[in-house]
Formats: sequence, C-alpha cells, structure tokens
Amino acid sequence: MRIERISEILEEGKRAFSEAADEASRSETEVRLLGRKSELSEILRGLKDLSPEEKREFGPVVQGARRALEEAAAAAKERLLVEGRDWESERIDVSLPGADDPLGHLHPVTTMIREIEDIFTRLGFEIAEGPELETEFYNFDALNVPADHPARDMQDTFFVESDGFDTRYLLRTHTSPVQVRYMETHTPPFRIIVPGRVFRNESTDASHEHTFHQFESLVVGETGDVTVGHFKHLGETFFSEFFGRHVEVRLRPSYFPFVEPGFEFDISCVLCGGAGCPACKRTGWLEVGGAGMVQQKVFEAAGYPRGKYQGFAWGFGLERLVMMKRRIPDIRLLMSGDLRFIRQF
Ligand code: DAH
Repeated sequence: MRIERISEILEEGKRAFSEAADEASRSETEVRLLGRKSELSEILRGLKDLSPEEKREFGPVVQGARRALEEAAAAAKERLLVEGRDWESERIDVSLPGADDPLGHLHPVTTMIREIEDIFTRLGFEIAEGPELETEFYNFDALNVPADHPARDMQDTFFVESDGFDTRYLLRTHTSPVQVRYMETHTPPFRIIVPGRVFRNESTDASHEHTFHQFESLVVGETGDVTVGHFKHLGETFFSEFFGRHVEVRLRPSYFPFVEPGFEFDISCVLCGGAGCPACKRTGWLEVGGAGMVQQKVFEAAGYPRGKYQGFAWGFGLERLVMMKRRIPDIRLLMSGDLRFIRQF
C-alpha cells in the first residue's frame, strides 16, 4: 500500500466534488469514491491484514482521507442546494404595505360596564367582585331568602352537582351574594358597585336571557347616615350621567327578602322624557331593577351587630340599560356571538 495513492484519491476526490455541476453527478462521485466498492473502502478493508506497525502508520491516514472526502461531499451538496435556488422567484418587495390584521373591539356589554365603573369611581365608589359559581348560602340563605322560596326552585336556578361537598353549589342568580362576601371582610362606611354575570334557568325571549349581567350597589354607614333620600339622589345622579340627560327616579313599594323597605326602581323614560311613548308603554317610566334598605338580617349574616349600621342596595339588569341606550330590540342579540350584530358597535 502506498501513502501516495491515498493522497491521489483524496486530491482527485476533492476536485471532483468541487466541480460537480449538479446533484446527480455529485451523488455519482460520492458512490464512486466512498461507496462499498470504492478503492478507498477496499483499502480500509485491507487494513486488518497488515502488521501492527503498518496499521499504526496507515490507519490514521486512510481514516483521515475518508473523513475529508465525506466533508467535501457534504459541502458540495450544500453548495448545489444554494446554487439551485430560484432567487428571482423568492424576491420579496419589502416596500409593499403589510397585510391588514382585522382588529376586534370590546363587546357593547363590556363597554357599558366600563362606562358605569367610570361614573361610580368618580363618585368615590369601589368596584367589588365575587364568584359566578356560588354557594347556596351566599346566593340565598345569607340574603334572607327562605328555604321554600320559589326562586330556589330548579326552574330558576342552575344547581351544580355537589355530591361529596358539604355545601350546595349553583350558578349565582344575582350579584347580591357579593354584598355579604364584601361585608364579611370590610367595615362600614363604604360604597361599592358590583358588576357581574348572572344565570337563570328560564326560557328566553326578547327580554329574557339565561345568562346576563347585573350591577349591584351597596352603600353602608352608621345608622342614620345613609337614607332612602341619598339612595334616590345617587340613582338620579348616575342615570342622568349615564344617559346624558336629566333622569327622574321613582320608587314603588315592593318586596325582596334582603331589603326592608324594598322598592321597584323606575326611571323617567329616556326616549320621551316622561311624556309617554311605545318604549315606556305610554307610562313615561321604565323599570330598571330592585332596591331597598338593607335588611338587618343580611348585616347579621355578614357578622355585623344588629342595629349598628344602615344602608341601601340595588340590583339592576345591565343588558336592559345597554338596550335602552343603544336601541337594541332583543336581548338575545347581545350574547348571540353574531358578528354582523357585534360589528355595529
Ligand atoms: N337581586 C335581585 C334580583 O336579582 C335584585 C335586587 C333587589 C337587588 C333589591 C338588590 C335589592 O340589591 O336591594 O332580582
């Protein structure tokens, strides 16, 4: 075996790879010089018949030549790949304007919640929240709703399978449970609003949804400090600001277990100003929700001593206000997920 022959093979091979004009000839060169039947492979196989001294002399030279040729083959492959690309067709015009990514926007209910939060924040209110998955205790018991009250009925409440738990869980039917949760960790005086999603197990129509929003208000101070007068004034201030015109408030006696006295809360019709129109069924008034002076039993459920505090609360349907403000005829449109509707806002 001659060292010179190995250098010849190496030199010739390097040249062949660097001169290969296409992948076919490069690959053919690879087989010829490095394949099983190549002269180099033959030499490699013959190494085992040499004496130990010869092995030491030739082995590294042959192995080195093989590695160098493999590298030359790989380099040629890379070179041919780059040369073979059609650069012209891959040219990018960096001056072209980018594709216009359509931007989404806030849902009208979200916009409305933020608007309401802004108004109340300016009036010194805090914003509180509570869980949508609520316990029967906070949703009903703590609010003095009797165990046999029809609102607890399967028809109105989505009860959640609570096997294995000590408490019964449900999807909250109103935002009022947050009153008690908040009072458990805060001491009066305070004023809060609680916007949030609520759920009712009822059939839907143009003015009823199974999933909708309310915003609760709770204002509490020492007995004598917070009256129905404050409450009516706050209502007028808020609604006048919200609708951008003067709005009157009317309270009608009503019953809710968590307030005493309780009221239906009406505002003067924002379309006709109280003169009477189809929107207010010619009465001049629109009903927006329930309200009243907080029942002492609710204070007690939150751990307050009886008689020490006095306050008012209300719970208004948010969608109803969105519908009045944006003139939307059907509540179901709001949660329909129909983009043709949503894009109008
Ligand atoms: N939680 C009641 C409902 O969902 C509304 C309500 C009535 C809330 C009177 C109040 C209130 O805070 O004082 O129908």
